[in-house]
Amino acid sequence: MTDPSALTAEAVAAIGKAQTSAELERLEVEYLGRKSGRVSKLLEGIDKLSPEERAALGKAVNESKRAIEEALSGRRSQLEENRLADLAETEAIDVTFPGPPLDRGHVHVLTQVRRQIETVLESLGYQVELGPEVETEWYNFEALNITAGHPAREMWDSFYFSPELLLRAHTSPVQIHAMQRIKEPPIYIITPGRCYRRDAPEATRLPYFSQVEGLAVDKGLTFGDLKGTLLYMIQSLYGRERKVRVRPSFFPFTEPSFEFDVSCGICGGMGCKSCRHKGWLEVGGCGMVHPQVLRNGGIDPAQWNGYAWGFGIERMAMLKHDVDDIRLFYESDLRFLEQF
Ligand code: DAH
Repeated sequence: MTDPSALTAEAVAAIGKAQTSAELERLEVEYLGRKSGRVSKLLEGIDKLSPEERAALGKAVNESKRAIEEALSGRRSQLEENRLADLAETEAIDVTFPGPPLDRGHVHVLTQVRRQIETVLESLGYQVELGPEVETEWYNFEALNITAGHPAREMWDSFYFSPELLLRAHTSPVQIHAMQRIKEPPIYIITPGRCYRRDAPEATRLPYFSQVEGLAVDKGLTFGDLKGTLLYMIQSLYGRERKVRVRPSFFPFTEPSFEFDVSCGICGGMGCKSCRHKGWLEVGGCGMVHPQVLRNGGIDPAQWNGYAWGFGIERMAMLKHDVDDIRLFYESDLRFLEQF
């Protein structure tokens, strides 16, 4: 007959060595199985024993069962702990590990350039003034001294809703709105915004584009003030090595009027393909505000004078980033846009 304490010791030792829960289950069946378990088998032939011996054996078997059960559950929780510890090492999630970068998108290059222009001019004391894109014929032409039938109207041919109502062809009408609103000079404003013209899309022009207009009305302003302002703006945006020049031109709303050029950033003014070998790139027009335009805005030209300019924002962006086709700005091709 097997000694219960020897069997217990054997079982506890085997359980202590078990490495998996499957192994533990097998040992449980082997020792504690109801009928054929080795502990139950200790009771075989108990009926042949004396009552005292029976009691003693029964007690020993119960103790053996309890000891084996305890060993099983102890080993089980140990194995579980080991398993978790292993997992923590091998399959840990490092919450500090950087994830894949997210595509966040960014501000469109034209908006970037517009904001840069605004920032530079605001630092000089100019305020942003916005006007309507749907304009009356009076603001778009008449008030700017472009009278009906004047051949200059052809330059600003636009889209009409009716003979009196059209999509503005430039931001210059906002000059008039600003003078009417502010009334009392000094006035220092810039007016960024969308403009429309009856043009077919090509590399240098589009039927819709943006301009930023500037207007200063004060006492005794000179052309030097205008040129200095534009030079400061260009050099702040493009770098101190850039030069500016003006060429006499004609606009009905300024007298005298000029075209405004910036030295080519690629060749430094020497002439290259990008500037069509001129060394200069045209940015827009400018001049001293015509007295009739001041009058149309409700301002007395005997007391006040002014200067103004109007630049294409796309032109400014093309200059800054050496883009050679204006259509790229509006094609929403991410390969182009993501460069900025
Ligand atoms: N409005 C003109 C255009 O779109 C540009 C311009 C020229 C604006 C001279 C001005 C200016 O304010 O003084 O072609």
